[in-house]
Amino acid sequence: MAIREILEVPDPRLKTVSEPVTVFDDELRTLVEDMFETMYDAPGIGLAAIQVGVPKRVLVIDLQPDDPDAPPIECEHNGHKHTHPATRKEPRVFVNPVIVDPAEELATYQEGCLSVPEIYADVDRPATCRVKYQDLDGNHHEEAMEGLMATCIQHEMDHLEGILFIDHLSRLKRQMALKKLQKLRAA
Ligand code: NI
Repeated sequence: MAIREILEVPDPRLKTVSEPVTVFDDELRTLVEDMFETMYDAPGIGLAAIQVGVPKRVLVIDLQPDDPDAPPIECEHNGHKHTHPATRKEPRVFVNPVIVDPAEELATYQEGCLSVPEIYADVDRPATCRVKYQDLDGNHHEEAMEGLMATCIQHEMDHLEGILFIDHLSRLKRQMALKKLQKLRAA
């Protein structure tokens, strides 16, 4: 596994429309492993392949990155009780995701993005949706999304179309955000 460089605005590659994945091979697995390592290292809760410069329709999400203060997890397999270290990672991979049935009702979250560091802003998105996607073996799935997961996957899916969360803001707010980022970089 390797940590890859995360592209940041105004890198023009972030505006790329990503291509569907057609081959489910070791190269795809390595990409996904690297994306998780890069996302956990950043740290962030979601990453699209184009953010590491790969224009493929692949997303990784983990709304539960490791919490060092989390108590150990007790579990039981085949009647055998044991305790896991305090990890609560819930890694999710979405290949060729498609949103269906977005709700009319909107939810507002303060969003951020590893490609737009240090900038946070409220964005309205459909509160729930369904997502059709493939896993690393190419199997098809469909899943209902709500809450932070619905917002996160819609944010990540935007990346596949070359759209950033700041593109949902008014022009004035977007310009203010980019100026703030310039100032932070200069400091
Ligand atoms: Ni993002």
